[in-house]
Amino acid sequence: MPKDTVVKPATVTCTAPVNIAVVKYWGKRNEGLILPINSSLSVTLHQDQLKTTTTVASCRSFQEDRIWLNGKEEDINHPRLQSCLREIRRLARKRRNDGDSSVDVGCLSHKVHICSVNNFPTAAGLASSAAGFACLVYTLAKVYGVDGELSGIARQGSGSACRSMYGGFVQWIMGEREDGKDSVAQQVEPESHWPDLRVLVLVASAERKPVGSTAGMQTSVETSSLLKHRAESVVPDRMKQMIEAVHKKDFATFAELTMRDSNQFHATCLDTFPPIFYLNTVSRHVISLVHQYNRHYGAARVAYTFDAGPNAVIYTLQQHVAEFLQVVRLVFPPDNNNGKTFLTGLQVEPVEISEELKNAICLEPMSKGISYIISTQAGPGPRVLEDPSQHLLGPDGLPK
Ligand code: DP6
Repeated sequence: MPKDTVVKPATVTCTAPVNIAVVKYWGKRNEGLILPINSSLSVTLHQDQLKTTTTVASCRSFQEDRIWLNGKEEDINHPRLQSCLREIRRLARKRRNDGDSSVDVGCLSHKVHICSVNNFPTAAGLASSAAGFACLVYTLAKVYGVDGELSGIARQGSGSACRSMYGGFVQWIMGEREDGKDSVAQQVEPESHWPDLRVLVLVASAERKPVGSTAGMQTSVETSSLLKHRAESVVPDRMKQMIEAVHKKDFATFAELTMRDSNQFHATCLDTFPPIFYLNTVSRHVISLVHQYNRHYGAARVAYTFDAGPNAVIYTLQQHVAEFLQVVRLVFPPDNNNGKTFLTGLQVEPVEISEELKNAICLEPMSKGISYIISTQAGPGPRVLEDPSQHLLGPDGLPK
């Protein structure tokens, strides 16, 4: 660049999705590299409803690397952020040395400013670190001109983030190597594979913040023999069965495996010493509701899964969504305030439910148990936003 040119940052903005596992990751064999004790599989949710947007600007006038998350400047020295920055820069240099001319060497010697926001409330308790680290790594890669396999770097920000690097149905292969090079995510099927599949996120009103996943799984690895059994003897077969169910769009098998895996994950939490409780009374009510609904039809029409918090994520098929939502409204009556906004995302026309079905659901109504529902579907992986008006950082490199 000639010396007299105005110093303008090179700016890229991308978005990345949230993912919800149906075979859970719980436990690391290497804390620093974030290597798991078992493989896992997830569905990438659609970014129309849930996404992180990240802008990265690189400029020779920047004095230091800086980051703003949801409007607040955060410490760039966070070890996991540093791992992602270091690894992406290392990869860019390696590619450049190997003769890849698309790598931007100029940018590599500059500092970066990073600004990231979620389109969903952090208070919703949805794991935002997966979308966040996936978006960070994807955007940095675009700034430096690096493409190809990047999930191994996103993994070093947060384990589950590696699965948000792809759309559709994604497995994280645990790998065997000590350096973690073979612990990467891989798309099993794209989002277009199963168009009828629907996802409902039931946001439960939580009393308090639960134990974080990182600390929780560390205690589980140290104390739970059930977790060891799960990782060694249950998950390998379950992964095969789940991949086959996805390939065949076999909802009944997909649903049963999903519920069993969520239940086993929470059983390992109870087997952790001291025990960890992520499910609350609302979660348990949702579990009973799903089983009563399925029993009424004599088929698995709906499946639940829970991560490290009380929110239920429901997988079902398009043809059952309206009726199941009506049943949820019956058991968790929305209060007057949120009656209108109880359901966000993909809209569904309300339907009447039969007296037989009403009678089959034997649960006390629990008002205010669920604060709202996000209705969504499987979606694509990270994307570049081409429109510069979408940048979160201004020409001065500061949040707009
Ligand atoms: C229960 O990926 O948040 O959501 O690797 O320590 O950042 P770290 O943990 P994280 O754990 C997610 C755990 C889970 C299950 C899953 O998503 O597979």
